[in-house]
Amino acid sequence: MTEHVLIERKGAINIIRMNRPDKKNAITRAMYAAMGKALRDGDADPAIRCHVFLGVPGSFSAGNDLADFMVMAMGGEGGAEVWDFLIGLAEAEKPIVSGVDGIAVGIGTTLNLHCDLTFATPRTVFRTPFTDLGLVPEAGSSLLAPAILGRQQAFALLALGDGFSAERAKAAGLIYDVVDEAVLEDAVLAAAEQIAAKPPQALKIARDLMRGPRAELVARIRQESEHFRERLTSEEARAALTAFMSRKKA
Ligand code: COA
Repeated sequence: MTEHVLIERKGAINIIRMNRPDKKNAITRAMYAAMGKALRDGDADPAIRCHVFLGVPGSFSAGNDLADFMVMAMGGEGGAEVWDFLIGLAEAEKPIVSGVDGIAVGIGTTLNLHCDLTFATPRTVFRTPFTDLGLVPEAGSSLLAPAILGRQQAFALLALGDGFSAERAKAAGLIYDVVDEAVLEDAVLAAAEQIAAKPPQALKIARDLMRGPRAELVARIRQESEHFRERLTSEEARAALTAFMSRKKA
């Protein structure tokens, strides 16, 4: 589908690895499509017990590909693959573990709000510059972040665009643990294996009880998407996207 997402089955673990290092794992439409399909395929496969998201060293993800946003800002197509991926995340039937190293911007941060356990490295910074781009929070983050972090930390993350270090993210409840880069994947896979070894029905019920009904989350993702789509064509967003596209490197 795309070489920028690598899917690997390791025993009962469905590993979804973003692999576009030259663009800091900025996520294209094809990558969303591949990741959405991988989640659904893994959910449908009884041999799979846990999903895992990983990036490359130094880059979990720089967020949505801004060139794709620019196309949408100019009235072009886009959005269906993002929608499918977000709904796949919100409705995932099986636990999700993520391992985040380095850059975690936009969806590279908000994806983790859907995860059951997130491990990050000391050099990781979580950041969502939505308002600076003239945009609004996405992926259900306007609902999930206040619930997980509390209103004020969520405001700092989603509205002010504060960078959250791994330690701050852990203290705020955004992530489960901070581990060294060298052992990140081992820690993630060990947690996934621990999950995979649990009685699956009991684990599913426990997880579903903690998550509650998905309808409110899906409705919020829809509401955010409507604002997001409108905002992308705003002067604020066009100016910010044009500035990124035309920036000169020092
Ligand atoms: N979309 C498209 N391309 C992106 C990108 C994105 N979100 N993030 C990074 N890239 C590209 C850069 O354009 C650059 O490409 P080039 O080498 O062809 O010029 C390459 O990835 C490396 O990025 P660079 O900016 O040189 O790396 P850096 O380490 O100095 O900075 C970031 C990394 C993530 C801080 C910076 O690239 C950035 O701010 N990206 C935009 C993040 C963003 O706003 N995402 C959307 C959130 S809603």
